[in-house]
This record gives sequence, C-alpha cells and structure tokens, in this order.
Amino acid sequence: MKVTMVLVSSLNGKITRDDDTNINLWTTREDAKFFSSLRDKHKLIIMGRKTYTSIHDKIKLQPDKLRIVLTKTPAKYSNHAKSGMLEFTNEHPTKLLKRLEPKGYKNCLLVGGGEVARLFLQSSLIDDIYLTIEPKIFGKGKSMFAEDNFHAQLKLISVKKLNRQGTLLLKYKFQK
Ligand SMILES: NC(=O)c1ccc[n+]([C@@H]2O[C@H](COP(=O)([O-])OP(=O)(O)OC[C@H]3O[C@@H](n4cnc5c(N)ncnc54)[C@H](OP(=O)(O)O)[C@@H]3O)[C@@H](O)[C@H]2O)c1
Repeated sequence: MKVTMVLVSSLNGKITRDDDTNINLWTTREDAKFFSSLRDKHKLIIMGRKTYTSIHDKIKLQPDKLRIVLTKTPAKYSNHAKSGMLEFTNEHPTKLLKRLEPKGYKNCLLVGGGEVARLFLQSSLIDDIYLTIEPKIFGKGKSMFAEDNFHAQLKLISVKKLNRQGTLLLKYKFQK
C-alpha cells in the first residue's frame, strides 16, 4: 500500500500554534484547497485520535471513503464509529495496512498528527510527503514528527509557491 502523508507547518516545523488545536487559524486558503483536493483523491484516510478530536465536527462522512482513527482505546469511540466510513483501531499500522490491502485499498492518506506520523515513520511505512510551509514561526507548538530517536532520508520531488506571501508546497519521496 502506498502511504502519502500530508501536513502543513510553520517555517520552524510546528504543526500546531501554541496550544491551539485548530490549524485553520493560521493556515492559508491555498493550503486548504490543496489538502481538499488530495483528500478527495483518497478512499482511505488515517489519523491519530487527537487529530480526530480536533476536526471531528468538520468531517463529512462518505460511503466511498474509509477514515481510520488510531487510538489505544477504540471501545471508547464505539458511538462515533460508522462501519466502512469511520473506524477506530489499536492495530499496529503495519498490521492495519496489511489487513486493508486485500480489501482493494492501494493508496492511503496519512493526515497526522505528530504522534501517529512518528509511528508510521519508525515503521518505514511512508512513501511520499506533501509538506506545506507557511511563512510563520511559532515559539510553541507540536512537531511534525513527535520527538524520539529516528532519522530518515528523503528526496525533493517538487516545489510550488502557492501565493504572494510565499506559502510553499513541497513534495518529498522517502528513500527506503
Ligand atoms: N498542521 C498539520 O498538518 C496537522 C495535521 C494533523 C494534526 N494537526 C494537529 O496536531 C494535533 C494532534 O497531533 P498529536 O501528535 O498530538 O496527536 P495525533 O498523532 O493526532 O494522535 C495521537 C493519538 O493517537 C493514538 N495513538 C498513538 N500511538 C498509537 C498506537 N501505537 N496505537 C494506537 N493508537 C495510538 C493515541 O490515541 P489515544 O490517546 O486515544 O489512545 C494518541 O493519543 C492536533 O491539535 C491537530 O490539530 C496538525
């Protein structure tokens, strides 16, 4: 399964600003437009529970799109779950992707946040990453990959300037 990760960060690598959980307060409409187009191309979307909590009131469930939320306590979210559209699991990502592949899912969009991104990175499961850099610097905020001991080599595939302010959309490929 091909895993594409998408995220937007400040120039200094923060995916949240201070203690805000709403990223729309500092990201641009150009980034939102790109995110929506990528989301619309994917039938499988994976996210961490904290990301889910921060966006769940904006999610529009669709019968042809499966969203999976990683949580250590899936039972706690049984009243949110909608079979085939929104599922909660504590499976390891490797096992999860292996289970979903035979169901016809060839591509997956990983939408964060940092903890789940770290888990996928440490398991060498990410193929591509789309990173939007907003020309802002935040003193406090979460890192795009939660801190730990790891490193990865990537290759830059493309760079696009999205607006006059200088919001950049970068595409990288992970070298495995
Ligand atoms: N700028 C961006 O592009 C972007 C993208 C996404 C999110 N965000 C922001 O980032 C914040 C969330 O990021 P985050 O790093 O704090 O959290 P996160 O990665 O979204 O979610 C973390 C949660 O995932 C679950 N989890 C982690 N490891 C797991 C494992 N091995 N097995 C099962 N479940 C596991 C746990 O849920 P439980 O606690 O339920 O067990 C954990 O608390 C939000 O404020 C969101 O707005 C920004």
